[in-house]
Amino acid sequence: MRKYNIGLLRGDGIGPEIVDSAVRVLQAVGEKYDIQFTFTPYLIGGAAIDACGKPLPEETVKGCLGSDSVLLGAVGGPKWDTLPGNLRPEKALLGIREAMGLFTNLRPAKLYPALKDECPLRADIVANGFDIMIVRELTGGIYFGQRGYRQGKYGEEAFDTESYSRMEIERIARVAFESARKRRKKVISIDKANVLETSRLWRKTVHEIAEEYPDVEVSDMLVDNAAMQLVRNPSQFDVVVTSNMFGDILSDEASQITGSIGMLPSASLGDTSRGLYEPIHGSAPDIAGQNKANPIATILSAAMMLLYSFNETQAAESIVAAVDTVLNEGYRTADLARGGAALSTTEMTDKIIQRL
Ligand code: IPM
Ligand code: MG
Repeated sequence: MRKYNIGLLRGDGIGPEIVDSAVRVLQAVGEKYDIQFTFTPYLIGGAAIDACGKPLPEETVKGCLGSDSVLLGAVGGPKWDTLPGNLRPEKALLGIREAMGLFTNLRPAKLYPALKDECPLRADIVANGFDIMIVRELTGGIYFGQRGYRQGKYGEEAFDTESYSRMEIERIARVAFESARKRRKKVISIDKANVLETSRLWRKTVHEIAEEYPDVEVSDMLVDNAAMQLVRNPSQFDVVVTSNMFGDILSDEASQITGSIGMLPSASLGDTSRGLYEPIHGSAPDIAGQNKANPIATILSAAMMLLYSFNETQAAESIVAAVDTVLNEGYRTADLARGGAALSTTEMTDKIIQRL
């Protein structure tokens, strides 16, 4: 029997509900494939602020670094919105990504044939479906640059800085090219090279790395155009590689054209097999505790963990197939139901477990 220790960061809002769903799915798949998971919860975000006054306690960092992999729900909520920036729940998310060295964020966005009608794009635009792998740089750029307040031309001003080193661009570019090799062999690098110096270094470096991958086609796209192309012709994208902030924004847009932000999983990876897996959506405080949230993004994140951290391909595939089946059978949570019959979080989880 294979054994894995998984750190659980339930977090805030709907975080605990969706993480518990994914845990139940992992337990079920473990029974089927003879894998034993041990789950250890750690505090993060608002829950940690309430319990011990800080969003990312040291025990959490230590616990995550000692786990084989980590599953996270979501952090944040109105209760903590007025705290200063470095005490906000979101800061914990950035902190744990940095502490674990997770410079890569994989955010796959694909159109499930069963969800064609939930996609807000015109039928002819998505006639061929789409299957995009967004490779987002996760520990650099403006999220981690110098910031602060100062006196400027008009009095008090705030500033954040975007900076990227060649090394940071090289390593994320390699991830994108490697990933493209396993897919349709096409990388689109997204930047704002007509304005930003960081983007010009980004573009130049991506093309240098591209020379190591002559079998992969590479091209550039400006981020404003990319935002437009995503809704104009999403099937043109295979692998997208971009900076931390552009990736944050474009992945929300990509999720919406899959039908719901409740569908998109993500994997954050570094140099080891230990990753952090989380849905791309937030803590949805408006529906927290109501058993209404769509657990699929977190369940698919757990499947990504099986694949990327543990190399448990069969178990991962069986989760993905079960989600497919349940969607094909017409089951929907409220975010996808457009006012029609909707399953609760636990009912959707039960359905997926039944189809494993
Ligand atoms: C995401 C989120 C986070 C981010 C926030 C909550 C800090 O939006 O994972 O996409 O911007 O990275
Ligand atoms: Mg985001």
